[in-house]
Amino acid sequence: MWNFNPPPRAGGLLIAILIAVTSLAIAAFSSSSNTPHNHNPNHTHSLLTPLLSTTAQILLPNTPEFNLLLAHRWSSNPLNTPPKPSLIVIPTTESDVAQTIRHANAHNLPFLATTGGHGTTTRLSTFPRNDGGVLIYLRNLTKFELAPDGQTAVLGGGLLTGEVVRALWRAGKQTTTGICSCVSFVGPALGGGHGFLQGRFGLVADQVLGGRVVLGDGEVVDLLDTDREDLFWGLRGAGHNFGVVSQLTVRVYDVVEEKREWAYEVFTFTGERLEEVYKVAEGIVETQTADMMHWSVWAMDVDVDPDKPVILFTVVYNGPMADCQKYTHALHAASPAAYLSGVTEYPNLPMLLGADVDGPNCKPTGTAMVRAADVVDYDIDALRNWYDIFSDTVATEKGLAKSICLLEGYSVQAVQAVPAASTAFPHRRQRLLLAPFIQYDVGNSTLDAIAERWGDAMETAAFGGSERRTYVNYAHGHESLQALYGYEPWRLQKLQALKRKYDPENRFRFYAPIV
Ligand SMILES: Cc1cc2nc3c(=O)[nH]c(=O)nc-3n(C[C@H](O)[C@H](O)[C@H](O)COP(=O)(O)OP(=O)(O)OC[C@H]3O[C@@H](n4cnc5c(N)ncnc54)[C@H](O)[C@@H]3O)c2cc1C
Ligand SMILES: *[C@@H]1O[C@H](CO)[C@@H](O)[C@H](O)[C@H]1NC(C)=O
Ligand SMILES: *[C@@H]1O[C@H](CO)[C@@H](O)[C@H](O)[C@H]1NC(C)=O
Ligand SMILES: *[C@@H]1O[C@H](CO)[C@@H](O)[C@H](O)[C@H]1NC(C)=O
Repeated sequence: MWNFNPPPRAGGLLIAILIAVTSLAIAAFSSSSNTPHNHNPNHTHSLLTPLLSTTAQILLPNTPEFNLLLAHRWSSNPLNTPPKPSLIVIPTTESDVAQTIRHANAHNLPFLATTGGHGTTTRLSTFPRNDGGVLIYLRNLTKFELAPDGQTAVLGGGLLTGEVVRALWRAGKQTTTGICSCVSFVGPALGGGHGFLQGRFGLVADQVLGGRVVLGDGEVVDLLDTDREDLFWGLRGAGHNFGVVSQLTVRVYDVVEEKREWAYEVFTFTGERLEEVYKVAEGIVETQTADMMHWSVWAMDVDVDPDKPVILFTVVYNGPMADCQKYTHALHAASPAAYLSGVTEYPNLPMLLGADVDGPNCKPTGTAMVRAADVVDYDIDALRNWYDIFSDTVATEKGLAKSICLLEGYSVQAVQAVPAASTAFPHRRQRLLLAPFIQYDVGNSTLDAIAERWGDAMETAAFGGSERRTYVNYAHGHESLQALYGYEPWRLQKLQALKRKYDPENRFRFYAPIV
């Protein structure tokens, strides 16, 4: 997926940067220990059809529509092979979701929701294949309602990030969203949700004021009902474990005139400058304002260096270029091998990153594996070690040459202003997301094993001496519960109690399961 296009050198689009992301796909389903009641999808189709609204659709396997939907998954990692459901239901109402879940339970069929198809954890592969599993494809839950006072919006559970961004922008509004246009809006929110506006407004999850959720038994609950504070808490950080979100109510903000512009600068350095570059980055982490963020991508660019990956260091600033450049003197002074800059508006930022809906980073193209280390500070010795491990393989193993490493440094002012105990998101102190994105073509099992070992080595190196913490939405699947959900014992106790209360049958177990 990531398809990293050769970078900038002057004219290239910023594309290079990219956001990375991972893979996986569709996941899967997993299995319950009981044998499904009836594996014949035709049977399920005929029983379920009368229970759904007339606009809902049920797709049978081996039809073009069915295959097309499965192929929408961003990455097909052999380790988490795209799930092969026996049936795909496309609900158009919340009641369709509830009916589908009730029916699946009554017939002992596992089910899994999907929206953007960008989930990458190998846990998705535990969804049982061809065994009666029902994939609930939510993209037709497309409600978009801006409140008359312009302070909140109700967003359907099937909307993609890019759809939300553009619809809000047309109304002169914005809120924190993830970056990649083709990721769902809700998916990032369930695990926290990082993006360009988090320094000003907080995480995506911090914007959520309410919503409606279909639980594992098919009951529909409103997060604002009395006695649902506990579910609301868990949904913001561990949400994949508790239900299918049919809609969320989020805070939205006016786009003020002096904040319409976003300036960006991209500096390309060769790998031997790593220590120098991240010395500067250490200063940026300490001083960047809520309007500023930086990240870097390591990738091969043979025009700049035929032998080793380059460092594409990017600064994005919500404001005019002159203000952005107040922070980047040291990067200019370090004489980058290539440089480019520009000014744009929020809805176009993904395009710069190749992460708009038609961009190379949105399209599913092969296999990707994501690892992630959430840390507080750069540790330059650890970065050097990680870079060398990355470099040795990316430069020599042709099949893996499209892999990149992503180091994301969003601002955290508003993220850290939210009391840590108030949501299930456990990593508010962490300021940097360090993430190897391994990418290669599907179908070479020799590469699978190399990729796995390489991923392990890079992840360990990226952590250095830091406590192991991983953003749940970038998790690979092998992380400890503490690494994903927090080390304070009360957090896991609270989540496990919530699980017993809201999903005692553990029906939501295919993403980053608490149990
Ligand atoms: C290219 C790329 C870019 C990314 N960019 C960002 C980013 O900028 N910021 C960020 O924070 N994260 C980002 N991520 C990570 C992203 O948050 C996760 O991959 C997320 O799980 C994707 O959600 P999805 O709906 O697209 O994927 P899916 O695979 O469809 O869903 C992922 C999980 O969420 C569940 N789910 C989906 N929709 C719902 C719903 N409505 N209700 C309940 N459960 C649901 C699914 O059941 C599944 O378990 C990125 C990932 C990739 C691959
Ligand atoms: C389901 O129905 C289709 C079309 O009627 C048929 O071709 C297919 O064999 C049936 N599948 C099963 C498993 O019965
Ligand atoms: C569901 O979405 C698909 C793709 O966007 C669209 O073609 C179809 O018409 C939608 N169905 C309904 C009933 O809205
Ligand atoms: C698979 O990858 C290995 C390691 O790079 C390579 O030696 C082999 O030729 C590849 N096989 C195919 C069929 O491409």
